[in-house]
Amino acid sequence: MTSAVLGAEAASTGVAAQTIGANSTVRFDAVTVAYRGAIVLKPLTLDVAAGEILAMIGPSGSGKTTALRAVAGFVRPASGRIHIGGADVTDLPPYERGLAMVVQNYALFPHMRVADNVAFGLKARGAAKPLIEERVDDALRVVGMQKFLKRYPRELSGGQQQRVAIARALAVRPRVLLLDEPLSALDAQIRRTMVEEIARLHVDLPGLTILYVTHDQSEALTLADRIAILKDGALSAIGRTSDLYRRPPNRFAAEFLGRANLLPVSWREIPARMEWLRSAPAPTDSWWRATRRPQARVASSAFVRSI
Ligand SMILES: Nc1ncnc2c1ncn2[C@@H]1O[C@H](COP(=O)(O)OP(=O)(O)OP(=O)(O)O)[C@@H](O)[C@H]1O
Ligand SMILES: [Mg+2]
Repeated sequence: MTSAVLGAEAASTGVAAQTIGANSTVRFDAVTVAYRGAIVLKPLTLDVAAGEILAMIGPSGSGKTTALRAVAGFVRPASGRIHIGGADVTDLPPYERGLAMVVQNYALFPHMRVADNVAFGLKARGAAKPLIEERVDDALRVVGMQKFLKRYPRELSGGQQQRVAIARALAVRPRVLLLDEPLSALDAQIRRTMVEEIARLHVDLPGLTILYVTHDQSEALTLADRIAILKDGALSAIGRTSDLYRRPPNRFAAEFLGRANLLPVSWREIPARMEWLRSAPAPTDSWWRATRRPQARVASSAFVRSI
């Protein structure tokens, strides 16, 4: 329901009417969030580029949903500012931020057909019928659901319902799409298909910035341009997906993202091809914990031997 309500409002403001991709950067500028005086998001500073898919991962309770809610405007930061498209939106209500959010349990209106669910946000604000039809058609095409216009949610599979929820979010042409564990209610096989579809959706809408919260590392590794790892309400690591995987900057990131065997190795001299180690965080004492990814057996044993 969240996305529909947001969508309705966003459509009326003109913010959402902007071309997708224009001004879709997101900036967290030292954002903190507190619930009843307890800080659950420590100062978070983070820039998301226009058109980027940033995955946010981290243990339960680490602040991922809170960070999304701060961007959406559902929770007010205790300090810091949120910028979207270069403009400070911290004091704007959710419906003026030009974004849409999809949550885990898709929350479609059960008594409305697919077309009406997707149209809801636009209709609520009195958009003209031809515009609504065009937007509904576009959004359903992007998620491959245009043949299901007349169905009720109960006549759809979980994956199809979630696609409709995403279409409903897209119908208002958000600049930024916030996805909070959108696939976690689905079984593993449908999740894989949906990940491919979200990747395709992003090819269709290259300017749309996506913040994607997930528990599932493989979703993050498959979809994201960059991954941010939260721990205890703080940013523990951030980087381009393959860099973060291959060269995690700390033990937590190494263990949280993928499987890792941490080996104590002695630090003597660095061969030229391992020069990057110099810019890595300094080892404690004379010990360095090498991250050995199981699938990189040959390279990593050479890595350990050569140090
Ligand atoms: N409305 C609220 N009132 C009080 N505390 C809250 C509220 N919402 C979240 N919290 C607390 O804030 C912290 C961060 O919660 P958040 O929902 O952001 O975590 P998360 O990383 O999304 O976790 P999960 O992976 O389980 O969804 C948790 O300790 C949680 O208990
Ligand atoms: Mg959450």
